[in-house]
Amino acid sequence: MKKLKVDRYLYLKKNEWSFSKKIAPIFDNHINKSIPFYKEFQWLCNEVSDYFIKDNSVVYDLGCSTGSYTKKLASRHKNKNKIKIYGIDIISEMINFAKKKNNSKNISYIKTDLNKLKLKKCDFIISFYTLQFINQKFRQNIINKIYTSLNWGGGFFFVEKVRSYDARTQDMTNEIYKEWKKIMGFSDQEINSKTKSLKGVLDPFSSNGNFSMLKRAGFKDFSVIGKFICFEIILAIK
Ligand SMILES: C[S@@+](CC[C@H](N)C(=O)[O-])C[C@H]1O[C@@H](n2cnc3c(N)ncnc32)[C@H](O)[C@@H]1O
Repeated sequence: MKKLKVDRYLYLKKNEWSFSKKIAPIFDNHINKSIPFYKEFQWLCNEVSDYFIKDNSVVYDLGCSTGSYTKKLASRHKNKNKIKIYGIDIISEMINFAKKKNNSKNISYIKTDLNKLKLKKCDFIISFYTLQFINQKFRQNIINKIYTSLNWGGGFFFVEKVRSYDARTQDMTNEIYKEWKKIMGFSDQEINSKTKSLKGVLDPFSSNGNFSMLKRAGFKDFSVIGKFICFEIILAIK
């Protein structure tokens, strides 16, 4: 079978996108080119984290991939006493890479499925572009666990690709996002191949879908604190 080229050095053997198969070493570069304001959204998360992470805080980064942001967050709070950050990912290659390249004394990386993860009581949970990859039938269960495990006043910083409110803006945002990817150096063929590879793998909800999920879990206080094209940041506070 012909390999599908989705970036300069990134070829998929099967037609389906996967986070395993030697992607880890080139993943940071690929995601940085693929998601608008990737670094700025991390900056915002750092700023927000100051309101939630205190001495003795337990923190989770769900779907941490290579751990590059997990390490930045750990470094931001390095002077706090006894904080513990857990980076969670289902892919062994990602977790091994994170342990090797992005370790720090207050981080533990754990290879597990979010659906099976038992969360400890914690003050801050982040999830960048991860729940959109979880099968819809398991997503609510994960949000329920997040709500239950947060201490009162704890925060959930949740970034997702979202579907639009209506068909016209959905069409527009799809096209505008493709134009943005071209500016970032992707060819039309790479953009189309990536879209094809994500079929049935990436399955975003709309903003309203995510709000409903948060409400069903028990969250009453949540706001969109950032949005660009089809990428949205929600901060939910217990
Ligand atoms: C788009 S990447 C996340 C990027 C990363 N958070 C960042 O900001 O650079 C999605 C990650 O979620 C992980 N993932 C997908 N399904 C998962 C699951 N069921 N349990 C744990 N991790 C999962 C993938 O392995 C992948 O590393």
